[in-house]
Amino acid sequence: MCGIVGFTSLDTPAVGPLVNGLRRLEYRGYDSAGVALESADGIRVFKQTGRVAELDKLLAKELPNDERGKYTIGIAHTRWATHGLPTQANAHPHTADGGRLAIVHNGIIENYASLRAGLEKRGVKFASQTDTEVLAHLIAIFDKGDFLSAASEALKRVEGTYGMAAISARHPGEMIVARKGSPLVIGVGEKDIVVASDVSAIVAYTRQVIYLKDGDIACITPEGVEIHSLDNAPVTREVQEVDWDIGAIEKGGYEHFMLKEIYEQPEALANTIRGRLDPSGATAFLSGLSLTPRELAAVRRVVIVGCGTSLHAGMVGKYLFEKLADLPTSPEQAAEFRYSNPIVGPDDWVIAMSQSGETADTLAAVRESIRKGALVSGLCNVVGSTIAREAGRGVYLHAGPEISVASTKAFTAQVTALLMTALKLGRTRRLSFEDGARLVGEIEKIPDVVREILAGNDAIAKVAEKYASAGDMFFIGRGILYPAALEGALKIKEVAYVHAEGYQAAELKHGPIALLSEKTPVVALLADIPGKEKTLGNVQECRARNAPVIGIATKGDDVAAAAVTDALAIPKTSPEIAPIASVVALQLFAYHVARLRGCEIDQPRNLAKSVTVE
Ligand code: AGP
Ligand code: GLU
Repeated sequence: MCGIVGFTSLDTPAVGPLVNGLRRLEYRGYDSAGVALESADGIRVFKQTGRVAELDKLLAKELPNDERGKYTIGIAHTRWATHGLPTQANAHPHTADGGRLAIVHNGIIENYASLRAGLEKRGVKFASQTDTEVLAHLIAIFDKGDFLSAASEALKRVEGTYGMAAISARHPGEMIVARKGSPLVIGVGEKDIVVASDVSAIVAYTRQVIYLKDGDIACITPEGVEIHSLDNAPVTREVQEVDWDIGAIEKGGYEHFMLKEIYEQPEALANTIRGRLDPSGATAFLSGLSLTPRELAAVRRVVIVGCGTSLHAGMVGKYLFEKLADLPTSPEQAAEFRYSNPIVGPDDWVIAMSQSGETADTLAAVRESIRKGALVSGLCNVVGSTIAREAGRGVYLHAGPEISVASTKAFTAQVTALLMTALKLGRTRRLSFEDGARLVGEIEKIPDVVREILAGNDAIAKVAEKYASAGDMFFIGRGILYPAALEGALKIKEVAYVHAEGYQAAELKHGPIALLSEKTPVVALLADIPGKEKTLGNVQECRARNAPVIGIATKGDDVAAAAVTDALAIPKTSPEIAPIASVVALQLFAYHVARLRGCEIDQPRNLAKSVTVE
């Protein structure tokens, strides 16, 4: 969580790039925002609760334009609170050494209570309730003249996770940055150096970046970057080029990133698929897996770990792998998995699903699986992300940057990638050439299927209008559409703040049906999959309790249309594609309900895009 930006330049004032960077990272946390700026006169800190816009207003009032030029180095933060309320006192940057040292931090310092008690005994006065402030005071105490060593000594005493940046008036022109468990990227421009939690805050300045690794600490000046380990040994990290530009992270005329990303899906999915289908072998090429057919054939079980939307995609994967590759597959919530002392080993393939590639629980599950000798791969969107790197092999989604906190295009890309993986795995087993070839054809059609659903946006918006004031909703699906029901419920909870629950269609009558009335719309997933007739029976049960039913059903399915109160049509697809088609309709439905309810769609309350704390 949280966004960090650091900027240093030979001549450019830092405040503009810092605030612009924060705006790009705001999706990572938006409880408060702040900057610390350094000049020959010392360090000044400005911080404010709420959004970056509030900080900008404060700066406009308190830092006149003609004063800005003297600050060419600074650090900034947008917070997702873990320790202490989202107040101004708890906002970062935090200071120590009488205001001469300022730091911003992303992550959790797990032993902060004992460190704080020790510091208080020495007479240190704390100004906030955060865990972060402990680190600021520790660095100040260890500062005997060398900033990098002071920070290294402090970080060695810290348990937990951090991405951090610090400046000190005692070391003018130097910025120290370090990471362990939270991402940090250094952009190396010609005259400027920009540090940020992710590249979206960097590409406006440069596409040349260095991804720090866990345990790295760097001293940055406008002249260059020196990277060390915490034990002060120099390390070398290569400079890499980001393969997309600023256009990919702008709204491009859409009112919200969520809508833009929903509409990007045909292209994003074409990118996920591009170059990966092999019609002549009726299989898929997934070179990033670097697994031979023999290695694939030796897999006895698949475990898919992830959180939130990524977990839902993984749950679709269970149906795909079991059906196409005859492999027992367990989707597991990543935190539950890693703390369960999981039974995995060399016969098991653990697939870590994560859009961001930074989710702490999923990363921990990867590490635990590697320790236990399992075959591990990543399925990530963000290139170079921690999970992608630590898993060592995997499949990238190539869906382009996803900015909206609510994940949309990543889900459909994940399911598409899992489908290609299941196809490849299936073809090392009992999946015939004919069935493989049929699937290749189906996968090729996915972008068009999505395009057709998007063309029906107005009809979806109309139905959303009818139900936008509902306080509770149920989403039901069976088989491969059950995870789609969960995803539909998650989307509407997140962006529209509607209490919603996803159920297996058959489960409703085992309790939740007690809650149904004319005030509780039920969204039923009725695409053509085995068991659809049974779901239609469940629809009747809902209607018999007066609940209005919105059906997502195949175009031309008159039986389904007649059974529901409002039908939303999706194109006919094979069952493997049905979750993708259904979820695209549900994404638009959630978007419109949220819009009509006046919600902050791209940055829902209490959330952040990437959950880098456990
Ligand atoms: C989805 O809309 C969410 N905001 C959230 O559940 C997300 O999918 C989850 O935090 C996992 O993120 P990841 O894919 O980046 O690991
Ligand atoms: N733990 C710190 C805090 O609560 C940092 C949280 C963050 O990553 O934004 O302030």
